[in-house]
Amino acid sequence: MKRIAIFASGSGSNAENIIMHFNRDEVAKVVIILSENRDAFVLERARKLNVPSHLFTMDELNDGGVLMVLKAYDVDFIVLAGFLKLFPKSIIDIYHQKIVNIHPALLPKFGGKGMYGSRVHNAVIESREKESGITIHFVNQNYDDGDIIFQAKCKVLENDTPEILAQRIHALEYEYYPEIIVKLIEAL
Ligand code: GAR
Repeated sequence: MKRIAIFASGSGSNAENIIMHFNRDEVAKVVIILSENRDAFVLERARKLNVPSHLFTMDELNDGGVLMVLKAYDVDFIVLAGFLKLFPKSIIDIYHQKIVNIHPALLPKFGGKGMYGSRVHNAVIESREKESGITIHFVNQNYDDGDIIFQAKCKVLENDTPEILAQRIHALEYEYYPEIIVKLIEAL
């Protein structure tokens, strides 16, 4: 059974969905949730779901402290789920092609620094796009830039608000992110 670490900065609804998936699926289990944000609701979700969590500083992310935590928990695979900071080269090199991120739009459009959550949906609506979707990709040292693994699309409707579009995108994320993680882990 492979061991997954999830990094999240905010609400953590994807983190919860992935934890629940791997409570049923014996391919892997989520062994730790990590966050740089002490107010992140994902920490509350982790407590309720009995998954250990670790709050870290940006110094710890970059100077090897977080890597030590990943080693201590014997982590095989890393999932970013609403994690908003850049990952350091030291961790990317060790977990080569074993770190994935999900982005709430069809990359390479609407990605990059500062493009997260409702800002992405705002930009999609303001550009009058007819469709949006999700992108699951490997993580490299730039924002939203690694090799694309999977995309799924949905419509953007005339009267969509960022909140309504976010709901449609979240539904796609819940449907596909665990499934793609399973495929990647089975191929390790
Ligand atoms: C998700 O929609 C995810 O795609 C997005 O943040 C949201 C987190 O929601 N990630 C990014 O925008 C990364 N650039 P959650 O905390 O409820 O899972």
